[in-house]
Amino acid sequence: MMMPRSLVSSADIGLNDIRLMTSNARKLLPLIQPSTKKTLNHLSGRTVATFFCEPSTRTRCSFELAAKILGAHTIDVSPEQSSLIKGETIADTIETLVTMGVDAIVIRHSQDGLPQALAEKYGKRIAIINAGDGITDHPTQGLLDVLTLIQQYGSLEALQGKKMTILGNITYSRVVGSHLRLIPQLGVAIQLVAPDFFMPSIVEREEWHKQYGVTFTEVLEEGLNDADIVMPLRIQSERMDEFEQSLIGRYSQGYQLNHLRVAMSCKPGFVVMHPGPVNYHVEITEELANDPHISLIRQQVACGVALRMAALHWCIES
Ligand code: NCD
Repeated sequence: MMMPRSLVSSADIGLNDIRLMTSNARKLLPLIQPSTKKTLNHLSGRTVATFFCEPSTRTRCSFELAAKILGAHTIDVSPEQSSLIKGETIADTIETLVTMGVDAIVIRHSQDGLPQALAEKYGKRIAIINAGDGITDHPTQGLLDVLTLIQQYGSLEALQGKKMTILGNITYSRVVGSHLRLIPQLGVAIQLVAPDFFMPSIVEREEWHKQYGVTFTEVLEEGLNDADIVMPLRIQSERMDEFEQSLIGRYSQGYQLNHLRVAMSCKPGFVVMHPGPVNYHVEITEELANDPHISLIRQQVACGVALRMAALHWCIES
């Protein structure tokens, strides 16, 4: 039997694995439509557990759907319905699932680095898949966004030389964590835009610049001018203290994306992405987020299912 492979950190995913997972996912994309028959058997007889200790719609549902389309059994460990409430530890919960013969656990948790620690402990017996850890990383979000861009521009090679601007609450965004480790590998330059109160520390900025070539600006227009791809982030108010929350209004005034701002600053042919969930009229207007000529948000959702099918296959069957 194959050893399971965990998928916990974007830093461990090189170009070959990006290529493999996205090209497999591309073949699966036609399945992700209403009225197509979604029954494959690549993972038949396998079991995938979802274990989300923070809320989720897209990531949790797409992993569950991906596992089901591939023929796996699925179980959901809802933390509030589980023995965690009775004081059981996360480690014992995982040990219990391993003992039951579960093949992969898709975990989301507020603790940074938890999936990695679990993979070190249990990775020989079960695949641990990081569905978002704290403010650190969200590898499958990075990969599904790469897939969305490949679909948009035609191939992975076509991404070379593109510019991506990510803006908003950079300090608390695990999406930034995955994107800056994955996307520059494709020759896409990342620029991060935020007011100083949502920017990482100078030390961290210097580190990201050295390691990933990322650049920074507080000036929105500068970030929009030459961007091919613009990605506003959700303001992570659940991770903020009261003072930080009081700055959200100022952020919206200065940085909210709307049709007027992008018409004035963006170049023709630019696209907008957003990992979701969107808080309309905070980081982006509803009209712009749903503009089919500009927004790839729906495509990201469909790509999410196909990419997670490829990721599950990579973890337990290849
Ligand atoms: C993101 C997350 O949870 O990290 N959502 C997602 O998985 N699509 C982004 C967010 O919550 O802002």
